[in-house]
Amino acid sequence: MIEFRNVSKQYSPDATALRDVSFTVAKGELVFLAGPSGAGKSTLLKMIAAVERPSAGQVIVNGQDIARIKPAAVPFLRRNLGLIFQQQRLLTDRSILANVMLPLLVTGASRAQAEQRARAALDKVGLLERADAQPLALSGGEQQRVSIARAIVNRPQVILADEPTANLDRASANKVLDALKAFHSVGVTCLISSHDEQMLDAAARVIHLKQGQLEVQA
Ligand SMILES: Nc1ncnc2c1ncn2[C@@H]1O[C@H](COP(=O)(O)OP(=O)(O)OP(=O)(O)O)[C@@H](O)[C@H]1O
Ligand SMILES: [Mg+2]
Repeated sequence: MIEFRNVSKQYSPDATALRDVSFTVAKGELVFLAGPSGAGKSTLLKMIAAVERPSAGQVIVNGQDIARIKPAAVPFLRRNLGLIFQQQRLLTDRSILANVMLPLLVTGASRAQAEQRARAALDKVGLLERADAQPLALSGGEQQRVSIARAIVNRPQVILADEPTANLDRASANKVLDALKAFHSVGVTCLISSHDEQMLDAAARVIHLKQGQLEVQA
């Protein structure tokens, strides 16, 4: 489903984020992406969503080469991806229900259909009873679960979550991870980054990045 073949990324001559990275993630797999700050985790996830393109090597997602994908095809690629990125924020001037409905409304769903599916998505992350709350009335962990609901409301085949548990206490972090694992258990491919080694699931496959390189060939 996702394949990196000898991928390197240089933002500038003296900023190399990834060096010769190769791995594959099979359909339905749950993989953690670990490594310290600056290791290249966000860069790697951004390449899967065609936010960044490789400087060398190939990134293949669903059979498509990200380096060659036409700009017009990028929205179609992203429609199959649930993205939970580090700098993404919820819109604070509307309810969490409205936030989760948004991706459906922009792809042409009716309001009634969007509301029904957004409520189902909020239910899956345990926040249905807070549907009418404003984002800032929720804790950091609850906001992160709203972000997950917003990412999965379009029923993507793949979830990419960049540090979804950063700045959360252990209990909230576990709830966020449980919400992600619930999607994995119904067949969704999940790639989750974290700089906190304690957050990694002992049972799951882990790809370790350090200074842009894979530590163990995965
Ligand atoms: N847009 C950019 N322009 C130039 N350099 C960048 C850019 N984005 C990232 N870098 C550099 O690439 C390297 C990898 O950054 P990246 O954000 O992928 O790391 P990370 O593992 O996600 O770190 P963190 O845990 O802090 O989020 C860093 O040295 C960073 O400074
Ligand atoms: Mg990052």
